Amino acid sequence: MKEKLELVRKEALAALAEVSASDALEALRVKYLGKKGELTAVLKQMGKLSAEERPVIGQLANEVRAKLEAAIESRAQQLANEAMAARLLSETVDVTIPGETRKLGSQHPMYQVLDELKDIFIGMGFEVVEDREVELAAYNFDRLNEKEGHPAREWTDTFYFTEDSSILLRTQTSPMQIHVMERQKPPIRMVAPGRVYRKDEVDATHSPMFHQVEGMVIDKGITMADLKGTLSEVARQLYGEDTVTRFRPHHFPFTEPSCEMDIQCYKCHGAGCPTCKGEGWIELLGAGMVHPTVLEGCGIDPDVYSGWAFGFGLERLALAYFKISDLRLIFENDVRFLEQF
Ligand code: DAH
Repeated sequence: MKEKLELVRKEALAALAEVSASDALEALRVKYLGKKGELTAVLKQMGKLSAEERPVIGQLANEVRAKLEAAIESRAQQLANEAMAARLLSETVDVTIPGETRKLGSQHPMYQVLDELKDIFIGMGFEVVEDREVELAAYNFDRLNEKEGHPAREWTDTFYFTEDSSILLRTQTSPMQIHVMERQKPPIRMVAPGRVYRKDEVDATHSPMFHQVEGMVIDKGITMADLKGTLSEVARQLYGEDTVTRFRPHHFPFTEPSCEMDIQCYKCHGAGCPTCKGEGWIELLGAGMVHPTVLEGCGIDPDVYSGWAFGFGLERLALAYFKISDLRLIFENDVRFLEQF
Protein backbone atom coordinates (compact mmCIF):
# COMPACT_ATOMS: atom_id res chain seq x y z
CA MET A 1 0.00 0.00 0.00
CA LYS A 2 2.84 2.27 0.71
CA GLU A 3 4.06 1.82 -2.86
CA LYS A 4 0.57 2.47 -4.16
CA LEU A 5 0.44 5.78 -2.26
CA GLU A 6 3.87 6.81 -3.52
CA LEU A 7 2.72 5.98 -7.06
CA VAL A 8 -0.40 8.12 -6.71
CA ARG A 9 1.74 10.99 -5.43
CA LYS A 10 4.24 10.67 -8.26
CA GLU A 11 1.63 10.38 -11.00
CA ALA A 12 -0.45 13.23 -9.65
CA LEU A 13 2.52 15.60 -9.36
CA ALA A 14 3.66 14.71 -12.89
CA ALA A 15 0.16 15.31 -14.30
CA LEU A 16 -0.05 18.58 -12.40
CA ALA A 17 3.04 19.91 -14.11
CA GLU A 18 1.35 19.33 -17.49
CA VAL A 19 -1.92 21.12 -16.62
CA SER A 20 -2.29 24.49 -18.28
CA ALA A 21 -5.96 25.37 -17.83
CA SER A 22 -8.10 25.74 -14.73
CA ASP A 23 -10.81 23.29 -15.86
CA ALA A 24 -8.15 20.61 -16.50
CA LEU A 25 -6.79 21.34 -13.02
CA GLU A 26 -10.20 20.78 -11.48
CA ALA A 27 -10.54 17.46 -13.38
CA LEU A 28 -7.21 16.44 -11.96
CA ARG A 29 -8.27 17.28 -8.43
CA VAL A 30 -11.38 15.14 -8.80
CA LYS A 31 -9.34 12.30 -10.32
CA TYR A 32 -6.99 12.07 -7.33
CA LEU A 33 -8.71 13.66 -4.35
CA GLY A 34 -12.41 13.30 -5.22
CA LYS A 35 -14.79 10.88 -3.50
CA LYS A 36 -14.19 8.34 -6.21
CA GLY A 37 -10.60 9.45 -6.67
CA GLU A 38 -7.50 7.35 -6.60
CA LEU A 39 -6.34 8.38 -3.14
CA THR A 40 -9.74 7.63 -1.69
CA ALA A 41 -9.69 4.23 -3.40
CA VAL A 42 -6.41 3.43 -1.64
CA LEU A 43 -7.69 4.62 1.73
CA LYS A 44 -10.76 2.43 1.41
CA GLN A 45 -8.51 -0.55 1.64
CA MET A 46 -7.10 0.54 5.02
CA GLY A 47 -9.36 -2.02 6.73
CA LYS A 48 -7.27 -4.81 5.35
CA LEU A 49 -4.17 -3.55 7.15
CA SER A 50 -2.83 -4.80 10.47
CA ALA A 51 -3.11 -2.67 13.62
CA GLU A 52 0.58 -1.75 13.43
CA GLU A 53 0.55 -0.78 9.78
CA ARG A 54 -2.63 1.28 9.92
CA PRO A 55 -1.28 4.43 11.69
CA VAL A 56 1.86 4.43 9.52
CA ILE A 57 -0.06 4.16 6.27
CA GLY A 58 -2.69 6.57 7.64
CA GLN A 59 -0.07 9.18 8.28
CA LEU A 60 1.47 8.68 4.87
CA ALA A 61 -1.93 8.96 3.22
CA ASN A 62 -2.53 12.24 5.02
CA GLU A 63 0.84 13.53 3.94
CA VAL A 64 0.14 12.61 0.32
CA ARG A 65 -3.27 14.30 0.49
CA ALA A 66 -1.81 17.45 2.06
CA LYS A 67 1.00 17.51 -0.45
CA LEU A 68 -1.37 17.13 -3.42
CA GLU A 69 -3.79 19.73 -2.08
CA ALA A 70 -0.98 22.23 -1.62
CA ALA A 71 0.42 21.48 -5.07
CA ILE A 72 -2.99 21.90 -6.73
CA GLU A 73 -3.61 25.12 -4.85
CA SER A 74 -0.27 26.58 -5.87
CA ARG A 75 -0.77 25.50 -9.49
CA ALA A 76 -4.19 27.19 -9.45
CA GLN A 77 -2.62 30.37 -8.18
CA GLN A 78 0.03 30.18 -10.88
CA LEU A 79 -2.58 29.72 -13.62
CA ALA A 80 -4.56 32.68 -12.31
CA ASN A 81 -1.45 34.84 -12.34
CA GLU A 82 -0.65 33.82 -15.90
CA ALA A 83 -4.23 34.57 -17.03
CA MET A 84 -4.10 38.00 -15.41
CA ALA A 85 -0.74 38.77 -17.01
CA ALA A 86 -2.08 37.77 -20.44
CA ARG A 87 -5.16 39.88 -19.92
CA LEU A 88 -3.15 42.91 -18.85
CA LEU A 89 -1.01 42.52 -21.93
CA SER A 90 -3.95 42.22 -24.34
CA GLU A 91 -5.86 45.11 -22.76
CA THR A 92 -2.99 47.51 -22.51
CA VAL A 93 -3.90 51.05 -23.50
CA ASP A 94 -1.18 53.15 -24.99
CA VAL A 95 -1.93 56.49 -23.46
CA THR A 96 0.62 58.19 -25.67
CA ILE A 97 -1.38 57.51 -28.90
CA PRO A 98 -3.09 60.75 -29.99
CA GLY A 99 -6.88 60.65 -29.41
CA GLU A 100 -9.49 60.53 -32.15
CA THR A 101 -10.50 64.08 -32.90
CA ARG A 102 -14.22 64.49 -33.29
CA LYS A 103 -15.53 67.32 -35.42
CA LEU A 104 -17.61 69.69 -33.36
CA GLY A 105 -20.68 71.11 -35.03
CA SER A 106 -21.72 74.72 -34.71
CA GLN A 107 -24.92 76.65 -35.01
CA HIS A 108 -26.33 77.01 -38.53
CA PRO A 109 -25.59 80.50 -39.91
CA MET A 110 -29.26 81.31 -40.40
CA TYR A 111 -30.03 80.48 -36.79
CA GLN A 112 -27.11 82.66 -35.72
CA VAL A 113 -28.87 85.57 -37.44
CA LEU A 114 -32.19 84.55 -35.91
CA ASP A 115 -30.65 84.52 -32.44
CA GLU A 116 -29.23 87.96 -33.00
CA LEU A 117 -32.65 89.19 -34.16
CA LYS A 118 -34.36 87.67 -31.14
CA ASP A 119 -31.85 89.42 -28.88
CA ILE A 120 -32.58 92.74 -30.55
CA PHE A 121 -36.35 92.35 -30.21
CA ILE A 122 -36.18 90.98 -26.67
CA GLY A 123 -34.06 94.04 -25.83
CA MET A 124 -37.01 96.16 -27.01
CA GLY A 125 -39.50 94.30 -24.82
CA PHE A 126 -40.86 91.87 -27.42
CA GLU A 127 -41.86 88.30 -26.58
CA VAL A 128 -40.79 85.41 -28.84
CA VAL A 129 -43.64 83.01 -29.68
CA GLU A 130 -43.64 79.84 -31.75
CA ASP A 131 -46.59 77.78 -32.84
CA ARG A 132 -48.10 75.30 -35.33
CA GLU A 133 -47.11 74.91 -38.98
CA VAL A 134 -50.34 73.11 -39.91
CA GLU A 135 -53.00 75.81 -40.09
CA LEU A 136 -56.66 76.33 -40.76
CA ALA A 137 -57.31 78.35 -43.91
CA ALA A 138 -59.39 80.54 -41.63
CA TYR A 139 -56.25 81.69 -39.79
CA ASN A 140 -53.84 81.60 -42.72
CA PHE A 141 -56.19 83.55 -45.02
CA ASP A 142 -59.73 84.56 -44.01
CA ARG A 143 -59.03 86.29 -40.72
CA LEU A 144 -56.12 88.10 -42.37
CA ASN A 145 -58.53 89.56 -44.88
CA GLU A 146 -57.32 87.30 -47.68
CA LYS A 147 -60.72 86.40 -49.08
CA GLU A 148 -61.76 83.53 -51.37
CA GLY A 149 -60.24 84.18 -54.77
CA HIS A 150 -57.03 85.69 -53.41
CA PRO A 151 -54.23 84.32 -55.63
CA ALA A 152 -52.23 82.88 -52.67
CA ARG A 153 -55.16 80.52 -51.97
CA GLU A 154 -54.75 78.68 -55.28
CA TRP A 155 -54.11 74.91 -55.18
CA THR A 156 -51.08 75.55 -57.35
CA ASP A 157 -49.49 77.78 -54.66
CA THR A 158 -50.43 76.15 -51.37
CA PHE A 159 -50.06 72.68 -49.81
CA TYR A 160 -53.57 71.65 -48.74
CA PHE A 161 -54.40 68.60 -46.65
CA THR A 162 -58.09 68.49 -47.47
CA GLU A 163 -60.24 68.62 -50.61
CA ASP A 164 -62.23 71.52 -49.16
CA SER A 165 -59.03 73.62 -48.75
CA SER A 166 -59.67 74.12 -45.04
CA ILE A 167 -56.40 72.71 -43.62
CA LEU A 168 -52.99 73.56 -45.02
CA LEU A 169 -49.29 74.07 -44.37
CA ARG A 170 -49.10 77.73 -43.45
CA THR A 171 -47.87 79.90 -46.31
CA GLN A 172 -46.84 82.75 -44.01
CA THR A 173 -46.26 83.40 -40.31
CA SER A 174 -48.99 86.07 -40.32
CA PRO A 175 -51.63 83.71 -38.79
CA MET A 176 -49.53 84.06 -35.63
CA GLN A 177 -50.95 87.58 -35.36
CA ILE A 178 -54.42 86.07 -34.99
CA HIS A 179 -53.35 83.36 -32.51
CA VAL A 180 -51.60 85.88 -30.28
CA MET A 181 -54.45 88.42 -30.37
CA GLU A 182 -56.91 85.62 -29.57
CA ARG A 183 -55.14 84.55 -26.42
CA GLN A 184 -53.63 87.80 -25.19
CA LYS A 185 -55.04 91.20 -24.38
CA PRO A 186 -53.11 94.33 -25.48
CA PRO A 187 -50.50 95.63 -24.93
CA ILE A 188 -48.90 93.04 -27.24
CA ARG A 189 -45.31 93.02 -28.48
CA MET A 190 -44.35 89.76 -30.15
CA VAL A 191 -42.08 88.22 -32.75
CA ALA A 192 -42.91 84.81 -34.22
CA PRO A 193 -40.23 83.03 -36.24
CA GLY A 194 -41.02 79.76 -38.02
CA ARG A 195 -41.23 77.63 -41.14
CA VAL A 196 -43.64 78.35 -43.97
CA TYR A 197 -44.48 76.34 -47.10
CA ARG A 198 -45.30 77.22 -50.68
CA LYS A 199 -45.44 75.18 -53.88
CA ASP A 200 -42.29 76.66 -55.36
CA GLU A 201 -39.62 74.92 -57.39
CA VAL A 202 -36.13 75.07 -55.86
CA ASP A 203 -33.84 77.65 -57.44
CA ALA A 204 -31.34 80.28 -56.29
CA THR A 205 -34.08 82.37 -54.64
CA HIS A 206 -36.94 79.88 -54.00
CA SER A 207 -37.60 76.84 -51.83
CA PRO A 208 -40.89 75.04 -51.00
CA MET A 209 -40.01 75.47 -47.32
CA PHE A 210 -38.47 78.57 -45.89
CA HIS A 211 -38.55 80.66 -42.72
CA GLN A 212 -40.32 83.88 -41.91
CA VAL A 213 -40.28 86.13 -38.89
CA GLU A 214 -43.55 87.85 -38.02
CA GLY A 215 -43.81 90.73 -35.61
CA MET A 216 -46.65 92.73 -34.12
CA VAL A 217 -47.27 95.54 -31.65
CA ILE A 218 -50.76 96.40 -30.38
CA ASP A 219 -51.45 99.11 -27.81
CA LYS A 220 -53.22 102.41 -27.34
CA GLY A 221 -51.91 105.25 -29.49
CA ILE A 222 -49.58 103.20 -31.72
CA THR A 223 -48.82 104.92 -35.02
CA MET A 224 -46.84 104.47 -38.23
CA ALA A 225 -44.04 106.49 -36.56
CA ASP A 226 -43.59 103.60 -34.08
CA LEU A 227 -43.36 101.17 -36.98
CA LYS A 228 -40.73 103.22 -38.80
CA GLY A 229 -38.71 104.02 -35.71
CA THR A 230 -38.63 100.47 -34.39
CA LEU A 231 -37.85 98.75 -37.69
CA SER A 232 -35.15 101.29 -38.59
CA GLU A 233 -33.54 100.71 -35.20
CA VAL A 234 -33.63 96.94 -35.72
CA ALA A 235 -31.92 97.40 -39.11
CA ARG A 236 -29.24 99.58 -37.52
CA GLN A 237 -28.58 97.07 -34.74
CA LEU A 238 -28.40 94.23 -37.27
CA TYR A 239 -26.49 95.81 -40.13
CA GLY A 240 -24.60 98.64 -38.44
CA GLU A 241 -25.19 102.18 -37.11
CA ASP A 242 -24.88 103.84 -40.52
CA THR A 243 -27.62 101.70 -42.12
CA VAL A 244 -30.10 103.80 -44.11
CA THR A 245 -33.72 102.62 -44.43
CA ARG A 246 -36.58 103.71 -46.64
CA PHE A 247 -40.29 102.89 -46.64
CA ARG A 248 -42.30 102.50 -49.85
CA PRO A 249 -46.10 102.25 -50.07
CA HIS A 250 -47.32 98.71 -50.79
CA HIS A 251 -50.43 96.56 -50.40
CA PHE A 252 -51.15 93.73 -48.00
CA PRO A 253 -54.75 92.66 -47.24
CA PHE A 254 -54.21 92.63 -43.46
CA THR A 255 -52.56 96.03 -43.04
CA GLU A 256 -53.71 99.54 -43.93
CA PRO A 257 -51.68 101.47 -44.84
CA SER A 258 -49.03 98.96 -45.92
CA CYS A 259 -45.41 99.45 -46.87
CA GLU A 260 -42.17 97.72 -47.68
CA MET A 261 -38.90 98.58 -45.99
CA ASP A 262 -35.63 98.65 -47.92
CA ILE A 263 -32.11 99.14 -46.66
CA GLN A 264 -29.54 101.02 -48.66
CA CYS A 265 -27.24 98.50 -50.35
CA TYR A 266 -24.41 97.58 -47.96
CA LYS A 267 -22.08 96.96 -50.90
CA CYS A 268 -22.44 100.15 -52.99
CA HIS A 269 -24.18 102.49 -50.48
CA GLY A 270 -26.84 103.44 -52.96
CA ALA A 271 -24.80 103.85 -56.13
CA GLY A 272 -26.12 100.64 -57.70
CA CYS A 273 -24.23 97.33 -58.05
CA PRO A 274 -24.89 93.65 -58.87
CA THR A 275 -25.85 92.87 -55.24
CA CYS A 276 -28.77 95.33 -55.35
CA LYS A 277 -29.34 94.71 -59.07
CA GLY A 278 -28.47 98.34 -59.80
CA GLU A 279 -31.22 99.63 -57.48
CA GLY A 280 -29.03 100.98 -54.68
CA TRP A 281 -31.59 99.46 -52.25
CA ILE A 282 -32.36 95.98 -50.97
CA GLU A 283 -35.95 95.04 -50.07
CA LEU A 284 -36.09 93.64 -46.55
CA LEU A 285 -39.63 93.27 -45.29
CA GLY A 286 -43.36 93.94 -45.58
CA ALA A 287 -45.16 95.88 -42.87
CA GLY A 288 -48.13 98.08 -42.11
CA MET A 289 -50.73 99.21 -39.62
CA VAL A 290 -52.89 96.26 -38.56
CA HIS A 291 -56.20 96.46 -40.46
CA PRO A 292 -59.17 97.44 -38.25
CA THR A 293 -61.13 94.45 -39.60
CA VAL A 294 -58.36 92.09 -38.41
CA LEU A 295 -58.38 93.69 -34.93
CA GLU A 296 -62.15 93.49 -34.71
CA GLY A 297 -62.08 89.82 -35.77
CA CYS A 298 -59.98 89.11 -32.71
CA GLY A 299 -62.22 91.06 -30.34
CA ILE A 300 -59.95 94.10 -30.13
CA ASP A 301 -61.70 97.46 -30.50
CA PRO A 302 -59.98 99.40 -33.33
CA ASP A 303 -61.32 102.66 -31.89
CA VAL A 304 -59.32 102.07 -28.71
CA TYR A 305 -56.30 100.10 -29.93
CA SER A 306 -54.05 100.29 -32.96
CA GLY A 307 -50.94 98.42 -33.96
CA TRP A 308 -48.39 97.59 -36.58
CA ALA A 309 -47.03 94.36 -37.97
CA PHE A 310 -44.24 93.14 -40.17
CA GLY A 311 -43.03 89.96 -41.82
CA PHE A 312 -39.90 88.94 -43.65
CA GLY A 313 -38.08 85.95 -45.07
CA LEU A 314 -35.29 84.85 -42.75
CA GLU A 315 -33.22 83.15 -45.47
CA ARG A 316 -33.18 86.34 -47.51
CA LEU A 317 -32.05 88.29 -44.49
CA ALA A 318 -29.31 85.75 -43.68
CA LEU A 319 -28.11 85.80 -47.30
CA ALA A 320 -27.78 89.56 -47.10
CA TYR A 321 -26.20 89.37 -43.65
CA PHE A 322 -23.47 86.96 -44.74
CA LYS A 323 -23.33 88.30 -48.32
CA ILE A 324 -24.25 84.89 -49.78
CA SER A 325 -25.87 84.75 -53.22
CA ASP A 326 -27.61 81.35 -53.42
CA LEU A 327 -30.49 80.28 -51.17
CA ARG A 328 -29.77 76.58 -51.75
CA LEU A 329 -26.56 76.84 -49.71
CA ILE A 330 -28.70 77.51 -46.63
CA PHE A 331 -30.51 74.15 -46.96
CA GLU A 332 -27.92 71.82 -48.48
CA ASN A 333 -25.98 71.56 -45.21
CA ASP A 334 -22.69 71.05 -47.00
CA VAL A 335 -20.09 71.03 -44.22
CA ARG A 336 -17.60 72.89 -46.42
CA PHE A 337 -20.08 75.76 -46.54
CA LEU A 338 -21.23 75.59 -42.91
CA GLU A 339 -17.67 75.50 -41.58
CA GLN A 340 -17.12 79.05 -42.76
CA PHE A 341 -19.40 80.53 -40.10
N1 DAH B 1 -47.08 87.73 -44.71
C1 DAH B 1 -46.47 88.56 -45.73
C2 DAH B 1 -45.84 87.70 -46.81
O1 DAH B 1 -45.70 86.52 -46.62
C3 DAH B 1 -45.43 89.46 -45.12
C4 DAH B 1 -46.02 90.54 -44.28
C5 DAH B 1 -46.31 91.78 -44.80
C6 DAH B 1 -46.28 90.34 -42.95
C7 DAH B 1 -46.85 92.80 -44.07
C8 DAH B 1 -46.82 91.37 -42.16
C9 DAH B 1 -47.10 92.58 -42.73
O2 DAH B 1 -47.10 91.22 -40.88
O3 DAH B 1 -47.62 93.59 -41.98
O4 DAH B 1 -45.49 88.20 -47.82
